[in-house]
Amino acid sequence: MSQASSMSASQISAKDLGSAAFCRDYGLKYAYATGAMYKGIASKELVIAMGKAGLMGFLGAGGLKLDRLEQDIIDIKNALNQGQSFGVNLLCDHENPSAEMAIVDLFLKHDVKFADAAAYTQITPAIVKFRLSGLPATQDELDLAISNTQQKDVGNIVSSNRVIAKLSRPEIAQQFMSPPPQKIVDALLQEGHITATQAALSQHFPVAQDVLVESDSGGHTDAGIASVLLPSIRALRDRLMQEYGYSNPIRIGAAGGIGTPEAIVSMLMLGADFFVTGSINQCTVEAGTSDQVKDLLQDIDAQDTAYAPAGDMFEMGAQVQVLRKGLLFANRANKLYELYQNHKSIEDIDPKLQRQIQDKYFQRSFDEVWQETATYLARVKPNELAAIEASPKKKMAAIFKWYFVHSTRSALSGNTEQRADFQIHCGPALGAFNQWVKGTKMQSWRHRHVADIAEALMQGAAQLLEQKLTEITGKSS
Ligand SMILES: Cc1cc2nc3c(=O)[nH]c(=O)nc-3n(C[C@H](O)[C@H](O)[C@H](O)COP(=O)(O)O)c2cc1C
Repeated sequence: MSQASSMSASQISAKDLGSAAFCRDYGLKYAYATGAMYKGIASKELVIAMGKAGLMGFLGAGGLKLDRLEQDIIDIKNALNQGQSFGVNLLCDHENPSAEMAIVDLFLKHDVKFADAAAYTQITPAIVKFRLSGLPATQDELDLAISNTQQKDVGNIVSSNRVIAKLSRPEIAQQFMSPPPQKIVDALLQEGHITATQAALSQHFPVAQDVLVESDSGGHTDAGIASVLLPSIRALRDRLMQEYGYSNPIRIGAAGGIGTPEAIVSMLMLGADFFVTGSINQCTVEAGTSDQVKDLLQDIDAQDTAYAPAGDMFEMGAQVQVLRKGLLFANRANKLYELYQNHKSIEDIDPKLQRQIQDKYFQRSFDEVWQETATYLARVKPNELAAIEASPKKKMAAIFKWYFVHSTRSALSGNTEQRADFQIHCGPALGAFNQWVKGTKMQSWRHRHVADIAEALMQGAAQLLEQKLTEITGKSS
């Protein structure tokens, strides 16, 4: 008799799905978390609701000013004062490494233990500092930590600062699953960011013990396919575990496309140790966006999203997935990118089209947009202003990028005069979720709470798995 056929169906519970060690290490009821959503869409209320339910949410720190982020962290810690879990998003900042370091310093100041790292193309000093700062700082602390491990072995001590590295490409996974680059460790030691003990320990551990493989998702996406990415990154994990001889296994999680119990079960079958949702949480009571956005999202189906250029990586051609239904943002944003690619300057564009963009897309003149942009640049990136002003192509990009900022603001504030231009990051997972909850109380977003959704998905997945196993084993007996 196979193991499956000897298993009584009712033995599977939501707690069994995914890695028990993940639940233990993060203090969670289920191997489930909600992903970060920029500008506080993944709000402190959302993170607190997840923590209170024994689950974990990641605060959407991207695009928040440092003082607002600090206050949000303080508020979360005050609300979750029984040791419940929470995490904060840490975004790679190639343009401004000191800003990334300032966020890490904020994490260390307020004892934020769990960072959801995203948008990395290479390991940075800031993320290495965060990771290594959770290791014993002195020889005495190290001796104590070793004596507390079962095997009395350095490899078994753990950094109290955990990184969940979200990525969608194997070459980036490789960097996170390797020890931090020695050059970065040396520089951090020299500059006094870490201690000699922490530097010496650095090569025993991967930068991230948990790697979150993100398939096609809402927001920034490489449009990856879970059935391809998860097995290949798991195989890479197995090779690197062998190469580095780590004592603790690196876990692989799944994000992107999860909006139903079926999706959770399929990710489990692909080898996921934990599950992270995104798009479905934007259409909940706790999400930090406008009611107008939630109303638009509530009834969409799986075909109602589209790809558009990412405003923050416009020149590079990076993409975001957004809501398409009922909106013009995706079409207009794609048009702006096409014009940028094919023209040397704004003046080079057909005057009729220039007029249309100013009247319809922007609802103001290029001059007005440029004035606003130049004022912003003078304040925030004064070194770049002259170069942008001197290059017609760069100036065109700067003017077009204003539209991306403006369309996000319009959506977040629910400015109905610019409703057609709402930029709403969203993936098809929400369409599947909406179909799943149709006809139930959760059909209305006003009855959607992030922790209830987590519970329903995990319970539903356990039941589905049970049912499938019963069907399969029933057939074979
Ligand atoms: C509105 C929105 C904003 C997002 N913002 C961020 C962000 O700031 N940082 C980040 O790491 N991921 C961000 N994401 C990605 C989510 O954290 C999550 O990984 C992704 O949504 C999972 O895929 P799904 O949308 O198919 O569920 C965002 C997603 C959405 C829908």
